[in-house]
Formats: sequence, C-alpha cells, structure tokens
Amino acid sequence: MTNISTKLYKIDNKKIEEKNINSLKNDSIIREAALLLKNGELVAFPTETVYGLGADATNENAVRKIYTAKGRPQDNPLIVHISNIEQLKNVMSGRLSKVAQKLISHFWPGPLTIIVKKSSNIPDQTTAGMDSVAVRMPAHPLSHALIEAANLPIAAPSANRSGAPSPTRAEHVMDDLSGKIPLILDGGPSSVGVESTVVDVRTGLKILRPGGISLEEIQEIIGDIPVYDTESDHIFADDNTKPLSPGMKYKHYSPDTSLSIIDRDIDIKKFIAEQNNNNIGFILTEETIREIDFQLNNVKIFNMGSGNNPHEIASNLYDVLRKIDKVSVNNAFIESISEKGIGKAVMNRIYKASIKE
Ligand code: TXA
Ligand code: MG
Repeated sequence: MTNISTKLYKIDNKKIEEKNINSLKNDSIIREAALLLKNGELVAFPTETVYGLGADATNENAVRKIYTAKGRPQDNPLIVHISNIEQLKNVMSGRLSKVAQKLISHFWPGPLTIIVKKSSNIPDQTTAGMDSVAVRMPAHPLSHALIEAANLPIAAPSANRSGAPSPTRAEHVMDDLSGKIPLILDGGPSSVGVESTVVDVRTGLKILRPGGISLEEIQEIIGDIPVYDTESDHIFADDNTKPLSPGMKYKHYSPDTSLSIIDRDIDIKKFIAEQNNNNIGFILTEETIREIDFQLNNVKIFNMGSGNNPHEIASNLYDVLRKIDKVSVNNAFIESISEKGIGKAVMNRIYKASIKE
C-alpha cells in the first residue's frame, strides 16, 4: 500500500469538556474530518473506550479501506457507531426486544454494543457477510460531534494494527497506522480504556464480549432474565469451539514481547529473585510494587494502577501493554486482578494478550 501522509490534529480539551456538540460540530477540524468520511476516506477518532478507525458504514469501498489499513481478517465484522436513535432504525431491521430497549435507555450513549438484525442500508462488507449488525452510540463528545457532522453511521473497529493492543491515546494510533490513514483526531486519553461490551439482543441476552459495562451492571437493569455469558470461561476458538463473535477467536491485544500472567497472590520478591536477573518486564498493581523493597537490576516495572480500582487498571491497561514493547526486555509478566465488575473485561484482554502462538 502506498504511504500517505497522516495528519494529527489535537482538539482543545476545554472544548471537549464543555460537551457542546453543536459548537464541536462546527469546529473546522471536525468539519474537515466529516468531509473525509463523506468522501469515503478513513478518520481515526477518540471514543470513551478506545480510539476507533472510522469509515462511512454504508460505503463498501470506504469500509474495505479499514480492513487494509489494519490488516484485519475479512471475516471479522465491524461495529457501526451512531449518534441518535433515528440512525439505529436505519441500520437495523425488525423490532428491538424489551431487554434491548431497557439496555440502550440505560447505557447509551456509552460502552455497550448491541447485535441486531441488519437492514439493507448496511452492506455485507461492514458485517463480514453476517445478517446481523453491531451498533453502538459512543459517549465521547468528539465521536458524537463527528458522527453528527458527517450525518452518517460510522463503521469503526479499534484503530490499532490487527492483533496489537487497542489504542487509548492518539499516539498509539500514530504508532500503528501512520502512513496508512489521512487523519487522526487527538481528544486525549480514552477514559474507560477497554472496548465496549458486545451483547446479542436478538433472542434473549448473550454477552459476546465483556467490556466497559459489566455483567453486574447489566443484571441490575434487566432483573431475573438469564444472561448467557459466552466468554466467561475464557473459551478460545479451537477446532471445537466457534465463538459467536468472530473477533473473539483471534489472538488479540498482544504486545510483541512475550507476556505471561502471574497470580495476584504471588510472593513477588521470591518470584523476581528466581528470574536470575534475566532482563524482564513486570506490569504490576501499585500495591505489589510497594512490596518490592530491594534494588533491582535488569528488571523493568510498570504500574497498572491500584488493585482496588479496576477502572483505573482498565484505563491504563493498553498503554502499559504498549510500553512493554518500548523497553527491550526478553519477556514480561502481568499480574492478574479480581474478575469483579470491569475486572472481567480486563482479565479477558490479559488472557488473550498472553496467548502463545
Ligand atoms: O469500544 C469499542 O467497541 C471499540 C470502539 C472503537 O467503539 N470498537 C471495537 O471494535 O472494539 P472492534 O472491531 O475492535 O471489535 C468489534 C467486536 C469484534 O469482536 C467483532 O467480531 C464483534 O465486535 N462484532 C461486530 N459485529 C458483529 C456481529 N454482527 N455479530 C457478532 N459479533 C460482532
Ligand atoms: Mg479491536
């Protein structure tokens, strides 16, 4: 693919914090980005979960460019991003179940993606040939304003090289996609830090990917309705298991450095001593780091946040996974955390990031 020059535009943080969608929509940078999208080009933009790589979801040529830029397998469908309920009606067909209505009225805009039957406005290229479509209304003011300005449903996977950790900062997108896309909007770090929760709401309720909205939060809203949680046993695709969400079968979120998980109850001092000064990276909670009270040679340590604050760990996770590749270590270890709440999504990503091929 030819190398194109990638512009990186920073949007003033004050403007984002004001959350004035009308004023953001008329910002000259957002207008330029919206024009690119209307013309079938790609734009990377921040959402509250991770940065997305957007294209007009109704334009198959535009969508094809996403797969090329990311090196994404063709059988992995995209999430369509919307900014109002009218757009949902245009991209789906059939009726929304009661459960779906409850979920979207509580969690939209926000990190929840629903799988519904697709309408003919969405080409097969966007859904990888599936007759369903994944839809989400992001909460980040910049994504909201961009979708409004383009006045289009926007197909957007995470804006990383396929297989790499998702990007939660504009520089992560630059590292992965510079030379491959025309524009990156920098709206600061993504606050949630892990991707949206993907739920199939066509019949009953199935969680296809744990994410920014936890199982506990979903159960609180829907009451006694059973939830089928397809990822809770960390089932990876092999010859016997075909995941319901095509994206979940791939090795994912992985740094180039080989990563292994260590239990959070480990005796960290003893463990480090056993590594024989072997040039190793550690991604640890701040509590575990505090236990290390001796001088370390040949060990690089990264703080993933407090073990008591899984939201903080979620928002740091992809950044620390990327930092491991910037220091040259032979291999790295990451500490496990409790799978309560958003900790489940964090551990799902950590498991996948540590799969050895
Ligand atoms: O938070 C997020 O969801 C981010 C931001 C950018 O919105 N997007 C994101 O997209 O994570 P991506 O492409 O990296 O992951 C989309 C996931 C994949 O696992 C894919 O297989 C699944 O959603 N998916 C998309 N359409 C689907 C469909 N029709 N049926 C089942 N799974 C689907
Ligand atoms: Mg992704």
